[in-house]
Amino acid sequence: MELSKNAIRVLERRYLLKDENGNLMETPHEMFRRVADFVASADKLYDGEEIEKIRDEFYEVMSSLKFIPNSPTLMNAGKELGQLSACFVLPVEDSMEGIFSSIKNAALIHKSGGGTGFSFSRLRAKGSTVRSTGGVASGPVSFMKVFNAATEAVKQGGTRRGANMGILRVDHPDIMEFIQCKSDTREITNFNISVGITEKFMRAVEKGEDYDLIDPHTRKSVKKLNAREVFKYIVSMAWSTGEPGIIFLDRINESNPVRKLGEIESTNPCGEQPLLPFESCNLGSINLAAMIKKVGDNYEIDYEKLGETVDIAVHFLDNVIDMNKYPLTEIDEMTKKTRKIGLGIMGFADLLFYLNVPYNSQKAVDLADKLMKYIDEKSKKKSMELAEKRGTFPAYDLSIYKDKNIKMRNATTTTIAPTGTISIIAGVSSGIEPLFAISFVRNVMDKDKLLEVHPYFKQIAKERGFYSEELMKKIAEEGSLAHISEIPEDVKKVFVTAHDISPFWHIKMQAAFQKHVDNAVSKTVNFKNDATEKDVEEVYNLAYKLGCKGVTIYRDGSRDNQVLTTGNSI
Ligand code: CDP
Repeated sequence: MELSKNAIRVLERRYLLKDENGNLMETPHEMFRRVADFVASADKLYDGEEIEKIRDEFYEVMSSLKFIPNSPTLMNAGKELGQLSACFVLPVEDSMEGIFSSIKNAALIHKSGGGTGFSFSRLRAKGSTVRSTGGVASGPVSFMKVFNAATEAVKQGGTRRGANMGILRVDHPDIMEFIQCKSDTREITNFNISVGITEKFMRAVEKGEDYDLIDPHTRKSVKKLNAREVFKYIVSMAWSTGEPGIIFLDRINESNPVRKLGEIESTNPCGEQPLLPFESCNLGSINLAAMIKKVGDNYEIDYEKLGETVDIAVHFLDNVIDMNKYPLTEIDEMTKKTRKIGLGIMGFADLLFYLNVPYNSQKAVDLADKLMKYIDEKSKKKSMELAEKRGTFPAYDLSIYKDKNIKMRNATTTTIAPTGTISIIAGVSSGIEPLFAISFVRNVMDKDKLLEVHPYFKQIAKERGFYSEELMKKIAEEGSLAHISEIPEDVKKVFVTAHDISPFWHIKMQAAFQKHVDNAVSKTVNFKNDATEKDVEEVYNLAYKLGCKGVTIYRDGSRDNQVLTTGNSI
């Protein structure tokens, strides 16, 4: 696989080494060499015997676009900044000092290309007293605005736009203000927000009962709200602006492998990585479009190749933990206690095209189940093998693995990231998302627009004799193939895009992957513009029922600034 023009453009803008005058000092392949050499050198901390081989393996998987680590690793490995992780969670303590040191720490992380998640649930409610001054507290939402402004200012000097997640527990007294804090879509723009849902709350929703709002300090109930009404309010806001999302906090903690170490209160910005305060995680994704082989006239998954790639990827990500320059000592310590890594995938929609399987089908859901089970199990085997040589993660005694007597090097191994940029580098569909359109305009990095036609679709169109420039343009305008008569029915069925796929299949797919992922799954459930609040509510309930750890929805046209657009903007 070769780097596309778009990929090279993205790399040149932010990833490749430059001198003080902005001249490029490396090619993309030299970048992969830099990253491979630097990350492989962690082997010296252990036996280091095979370091040359490891280096070459790391280089090979990246340069052939089979595996790509998260952006900060590509940007910063072997450079002075040296910060390699995408995901962080910072605590927000209920004091001026706590709040502003958290803002400072977030700024340092953003500067290095990492994203930060925060739970604001420990902050006292708006209007409560401030003992030292006799004044009244501003509450979580107004402090979020300060975090937001700081992020905005750092944006200019950093490696990429800083991203935040803000979480508030559903039983916090300020929950109603939080739910609508982004109803003006110009506000708090550097945050994704999610309501932290508890099991208690979900039970109250089911029964139509009231539930308690709890003062974070006294832990006493200060008010009651009707759970169904609050749930409906969340749904209605999400329907109109796409936010807030929801995360199932109790479920996240139940499946936390090191529960005895503390309670998880937040995820990273895009929701796929629940973390303890001060914990960080580095991600990396396998390109599934590179994991196929031709058998006769058909494509099949090349499980052998996939397995080898998982092994190399796990080794790589474990090394990153050692080579990382952490922005704070607390983060260094916490991260090394659990040694969480997040191996995921990208190009799943492309894979389905090659396998001739429609995304919106039980066959695709079953395939997701089988595929992710394989990756998850294989990644754990590799982590066990590393534990034999390098020792278990230090908090092992507090983990579920100790009870099962399974020695692991990493408390978690799998996460499905959005792969927003690394999928552009690999030239494939992002994460486990369906394609947004067969041909579309991509807004990249704030201003550039790039037109793309899916390469395998182009190939099929040529082979089947229905290719024409004009038709490709028509597809770009329509977004979906569904109403284009020139395209054969069997092709339409397989080359489905986000809007051809009902929310039901989006959630079924998310749940199938979640079953075999330690951390969480980044997924947006797309709704058509004419979807109703009831439709959104049904999806939330289904996600809960099927064991998802959270839900993010987007109704077409509900927000101005879409990352991907079809139609008129060409
Ligand atoms: O593709 P890439 O490695 O650049 O990142 P991603 O998979 O789209 O996002 C993974 C994580 O990186 C997100 O969940 C955020 O924690 C972080 N991120 C960020 O901090 N700022 C961004 N502009 C994009 C991602």
